Amino acid sequence: MLRGKPFVKWAGGKRQIIDKLKKYAPDDFNTYFEPFVGGGALLFELSPKNAVINDYNKELMNVYECIKDADKFDKMCSELNKHEANHSEEYYYQIRNLDRDKKKFNRIADYKRAARTIYLNKACFNGLYRVNSKNEFNVPFGKKLKVNTYEGQNLGIICGYLNYNNIELLSVDFEEAVKNAKKGDFIYFDPPYDSETSTFNSYTEDGFGKEEQKRLAEVFKDLDKRGCYVMLSNHNTSLINDLYKDFNIHVIEAKRNINSNGKKRGKVEEVIITNFENKRTLD
Ligand SMILES: C[S@@+](CC[C@H](N)C(=O)[O-])C[C@H]1O[C@@H](n2cnc3c(N)ncnc32)[C@H](O)[C@@H]1O
Repeated sequence: MLRGKPFVKWAGGKRQIIDKLKKYAPDDFNTYFEPFVGGGALLFELSPKNAVINDYNKELMNVYECIKDADKFDKMCSELNKHEANHSEEYYYQIRNLDRDKKKFNRIADYKRAARTIYLNKACFNGLYRVNSKNEFNVPFGKKLKVNTYEGQNLGIICGYLNYNNIELLSVDFEEAVKNAKKGDFIYFDPPYDSETSTFNSYTEDGFGKEEQKRLAEVFKDLDKRGCYVMLSNHNTSLINDLYKDFNIHVIEAKRNINSNGKKRGKVEEVIITNFENKRTLD
């Protein structure tokens, strides 16, 4: 089976540690839930037949919606062709600044917004998604002469995957996204990460502070009680070790390279936490 791969580069993308995640994933499960799906590295790697995927980011989930709908997918691809053909610094800023007028922006057809999100992700600096407090995309131009928005057959493969399987798309809070999870289902949480340097009530850029990490740990415990397989990625911080002390904490080394500050790139310790062991990890 041809498998897709993330169609956008996303902060915290899991491609580099995908083999490790697969090693800790359960051998068998019913429905797959990914409440912080982002670029969906593990989703595409496992390509489960039944899945519920979710992200708070409405522009991102709109792209998944448009890839799933055959008619919108065709129209989105024509838009991508247009973006590739017109690509230049001036054109990039013209497309980027469409969200400066919210009234007009909200009237833009969803497939056009989806193509814009993919194009900006490929053409911006470092390929990251960042908006300011007014929800305006504010990453500068990436200085690429050409952009490749399709990456060969990838979008087509994803379109097939979303259509020929039972994949539900949501854009709600993570707690809401897992409310129907049952015994035997597998939930993979990849939230915005905790950091050792942030203090308890400190402001976090992504709005996901220590209180949110605690709320997520409660949801993890509840799913454990329901008989689900639960797996979670995060940084190896004291709070995370404390919150999940009753579960299996596997420390792994991961390379982070999506930091705009080059000096901060490098190896950081991450953890993969599970409430189960599988054959691969017991061997
Ligand atoms: C670390 S990223 C996920 C990376 C992803 N697994 C990948 O491989 O690309 C975290 C995601 O959580 C989303 N998010 C933040 N707060 C959320 C919330 N309360 N509920 C659902 N999603 C949320 C963000 O929009 C972001 O896409």
